[in-house]
Amino acid sequence: MIKTRSPHIIPTMKIEYKLKPLCERRTTPLDCSHPLGFGQLRTDHMFLMDYENGQWQNLRIQPYGELNMMPGATALHYGQSVFEGAKAFLHNDNEIYTFRLTKNCERLNQSADILCMPQVPVEVQMQAIHSLLDVDRIWMPKQAGASMYIRPFLFATDDNLSVRPSEQYTYCVMLSPSGAYYEKGIKDSISLLVSTQYHRAVSGGTGAAKAAGNYAASLRAQRQAQSLGAAQVLYLDASNTYLEEAGAMNHFHITKENELIIPFFTDTILKSITSQSILTLGEQLGLTVKQQQIKLSDFINDIQNGNIIEAGGFGTAAVCTAVGHYLFEDGRRITVGDGNVGPIIKRLYETYTGLQQGKIAAPTDWLEHVASAQEVK
Ligand code: PLP
Ligand code: COI
Repeated sequence: MIKTRSPHIIPTMKIEYKLKPLCERRTTPLDCSHPLGFGQLRTDHMFLMDYENGQWQNLRIQPYGELNMMPGATALHYGQSVFEGAKAFLHNDNEIYTFRLTKNCERLNQSADILCMPQVPVEVQMQAIHSLLDVDRIWMPKQAGASMYIRPFLFATDDNLSVRPSEQYTYCVMLSPSGAYYEKGIKDSISLLVSTQYHRAVSGGTGAAKAAGNYAASLRAQRQAQSLGAAQVLYLDASNTYLEEAGAMNHFHITKENELIIPFFTDTILKSITSQSILTLGEQLGLTVKQQQIKLSDFINDIQNGNIIEAGGFGTAAVCTAVGHYLFEDGRRITVGDGNVGPIIKRLYETYTGLQQGKIAAPTDWLEHVASAQEVK
């Protein structure tokens, strides 16, 4: 098993620890008897640092709580705000490992660039996240299928109403012990509404960034999907010809020739780290994994004639979620296979989560050990 011993807690920059008194912190592991849900719990602390005069400064871990921000902050008015979603896992050796976290840190910088925000050095992000995980390690969930969801985000704090890039920013990391994103996880498929009325992104826009505004812009389509009984939206390109992605997942389908096909990453699709991992694993999954431009009309025909046998979405929160039905605005509905979670998606899910949990050998550097402060002294 290849697991990297992490150097990330060895400070590249000094972090000030302003921790809660011990008597106010969690002292016992989380109760495993109820499903955790997704993104609802918070741990005791958060990481913060500020960007001013072209420099990151004031790195600190402090109690989770309210942020200080002026009402005129650029993030609030003009949406200069980006985020990431990553996960850490408790392995059988009782140690914590982050999964492909450098990829998330790199992508935060790609999103930041798209929104004219400053770069956050990857080593500093890694140090911040590993140090926070170490401080709040008691919160690591032990429940089957659960993990620590890591939410780093970067937002603009200039108190200025001109539409221009802010000069000041805050980078924050919060943690949320979480279970499945969709209530039933791998036990049930979801339905997607194929939206021709609303679009998530257009070429030349910010679709490839994990920008807060992209998610705000998706809420109206999401509301429509839910009113029609779908869990999420499957977005098309602006000409309503090609499949793009879902609201919080890349889309994929599996053909009866054992091919797993993901739409090409373009500037309208978030370059999913889960999709990239599946593309890297390829043959190891017993599938030919490839990317293609997928026409909606071909996709529908291939579901109806049985060429497409399974379909789903990839994402950190959603992991690998089966799509059983596609709904259309005119009330039509098509079913993939028998509408349930198929055997290939079940196997993919088991392999991918097995790898994250250290039960199946992962490629070098995919898992990084979270050292405890004691260990590096
Ligand atoms: N697409 C969108 C719009 C997302 O919000 C996400 C979630 O992060 C994904 C795809 C999946 O990306 P990843 O696998 O990196 O989490
Ligand atoms: C993730 O999968 O990490 C995401 O960010 C999706 C989300 C918007 C819940």
